[in-house]
Amino acid sequence: MSEYRKKTATKENRPNLAVEIAGIKLKNPVMPASGTFGYGEEYASYLDLENLGAIVTKGLSLKPKAGNATPRVAETVSGMLNAIGLQNVGVEGFIQYKLPFLRELNTPVIANFFGNTLEEYGEVARALSEIPEIAGVELNISCPNVKQGGIVFGTDPRAAAEVVSLVRKNLRKPLIAKLTPNVTDITVIARAVEEAGADAISCINTVTGMAVDVKTRRPRLANTTGGLSGPAIRPIAVRMVHQVVQAVSIPVIGIGGIMRAEDALEFLIVGATAVQVGTANFVDPGAMATIVEGLEQFCIDEGIADIRELIGSLRH
Ligand SMILES: Cc1cc2nc3c(=O)[nH]c(=O)nc-3n(C[C@H](O)[C@H](O)[C@H](O)COP(=O)(O)O)c2cc1C
Repeated sequence: MSEYRKKTATKENRPNLAVEIAGIKLKNPVMPASGTFGYGEEYASYLDLENLGAIVTKGLSLKPKAGNATPRVAETVSGMLNAIGLQNVGVEGFIQYKLPFLRELNTPVIANFFGNTLEEYGEVARALSEIPEIAGVELNISCPNVKQGGIVFGTDPRAAAEVVSLVRKNLRKPLIAKLTPNVTDITVIARAVEEAGADAISCINTVTGMAVDVKTRRPRLANTTGGLSGPAIRPIAVRMVHQVVQAVSIPVIGIGGIMRAEDALEFLIVGATAVQVGTANFVDPGAMATIVEGLEQFCIDEGIADIRELIGSLRH
């Protein structure tokens, strides 16, 4: 963003960076992507967590999960593949060990969660609903339904709607549905989750991929396939956010390969209200602080008083 570092921030020209997602007030539109920022505390020595728009937790399930066999990550060109297998401490472990730190912060907490059956999604939603410190939940529907032949909830509009409407019934908090890009037409799924009661959409989760070690002729991941993330997927994510924004009237959170402020701006300009930063946190644990600064600087240099002016400002 060095090309934007032209004007100095003063009291007079400091832009408003605040946005709102489903009633959750964010100081700025930048938050971590689930699974890349632990439960927040792990990153506390690298950046001021109170300067983030929100903290999004690692995906939670009803019971703790150990995750997949290793290797679970592999670096690729401009990205990485992961098949962590949603390792997490479970809802009870979260309340006992992670929440005491998070509740002291003046930053909203969004709990990401998942289930392997419809019933499990409902139970986790009910449990999270009882936690007052959680501002909202993000529902990961990129998981297979183990009771129905392993079909991934988020790849079928009916299954996606079913899980969103069940969670909606069990939850008294803002509900963000996180979409998988591994579908033919993401707008069909986006409309289905909106109709089923989602208050916002986050878009996108990882793109299914595979890499092979040619010497051993084995897959690089023990799980064979995994989720591709990082700059390699950014143009796919920008395109999908652009499509989803046209298809629904609820706010959209853009995710995919954001490394710098300029990348976040692409998502805002196509219509995302906020963004999440994932893989970049592994490259530079302070990346989000730099991105927030870069957004502010861009607004100052462009004479923009309120970042919301940029949202959906795409020119044709
Ligand atoms: C190591 C790793 C773990 C992840 N765990 C989760 C998770 O628990 N729940 C979820 O919804 N998404 C998870 N994701 C997906 C990210 O939240 C994000 O959607 C994706 O990585 C794309 O963003 P990025 O390119 O900025 O990393 C994970 C991604 C990575 C790389």
